[in-house]
Amino acid sequence: MAAVPLLVDVDTGIDDSLALLYLLAGPEAELVAITCTAGNVPARQVATNNLAWLELCSHPPVEVALGAEVPIVQALMTTEETHGPQGIGYAELPAPTRSISERHAAQVWIEEARRRPGELTGLVTGPLTNLALAVTLEPDLPHLLRRVVLMGGAFNHPGNTAPTTEWNIAVDPEAAKIVFDRFAVAVNRPIVCGLDVTERIALTPEHLRRLAEAAGSTPVELLRPDDGDDDRSRASNVVIKQVSDAVRFYLQFHRDSGRGFIAHMHDPFAAAVALDPTIAVLRPATVDVELAGTLTRGQTVADWDGLWGRQPNAEVVVDADPAAFLDAFIERVGALARRVG
Ligand code: BDR
Ligand code: CA
Repeated sequence: MAAVPLLVDVDTGIDDSLALLYLLAGPEAELVAITCTAGNVPARQVATNNLAWLELCSHPPVEVALGAEVPIVQALMTTEETHGPQGIGYAELPAPTRSISERHAAQVWIEEARRRPGELTGLVTGPLTNLALAVTLEPDLPHLLRRVVLMGGAFNHPGNTAPTTEWNIAVDPEAAKIVFDRFAVAVNRPIVCGLDVTERIALTPEHLRRLAEAAGSTPVELLRPDDGDDDRSRASNVVIKQVSDAVRFYLQFHRDSGRGFIAHMHDPFAAAVALDPTIAVLRPATVDVELAGTLTRGQTVADWDGLWGRQPNAEVVVDADPAAFLDAFIERVGALARRVG
């Protein structure tokens, strides 16, 4: 199967990190560029994290471009309590030696899409600020890209940032609205992976144990809810060690917010959908973003039945097979870690 050429925009982030590893793992993905949005942590930290993961994996250089450092209208909020002080939990990645691109993220999306019209899949696992800027500068972007896959929103499901609002949309609701509005003309509608599905994809310590085993890492460790905060992995494999230390923080965050000692795999799932949309069950809808609600700002509202009299502008993921995805994740990232050693 030919590799899927990808433009990836992230706010790395623990689950963004795992999404990148999923993509770096195999020939099915051709990473054209990685662009950085402020979200989980500030954009410059996102860029450092991306460069550091690439180098840890001894991956050939990929352009990493800085994008918007603040949302379009509102002030930036970040969430170090979810992802750790640097966005990578307890992981401590060696400082990258490669540099940030001189191009702006929006410029990267526009220029690369123009260079390969109709070929590139765009994947966004952070706030939609950069994509909104790009489509504002180049209104033809929906036709120049093959399609976009987004992690964001919550459909008939509670939010994780406000009662009805998911994080990526909450950080920059205006950007999200621009993207849903402008991409209404796309032949292949944007695929949207919302919380209602991604919260069903729960990584457990047992999955991490299987990942270490797949990588041939020793000792094979099992993280426990009552481990001390200062405990760190002693894995022989560098990728497994850093993943374990990153995910330990994410497991603790989920535990402390009452979700159990698990980690939701929002962004890795979206990455998998970008490589192969057939793993998701899709339902067309007209999606819009609430900007004015005093309690509901940033809510993604889906009209499933054409009640607004507007054409569908999105394919919303309504179902998936979490076990199959997690098996694929272990296989791909385990093989990557084994190669790196
Ligand atoms: C999304 O919010 C971020 O914290 C995660 O990285 C993911 O992209 C889930 O709501
Ligand atoms: Ca993210």
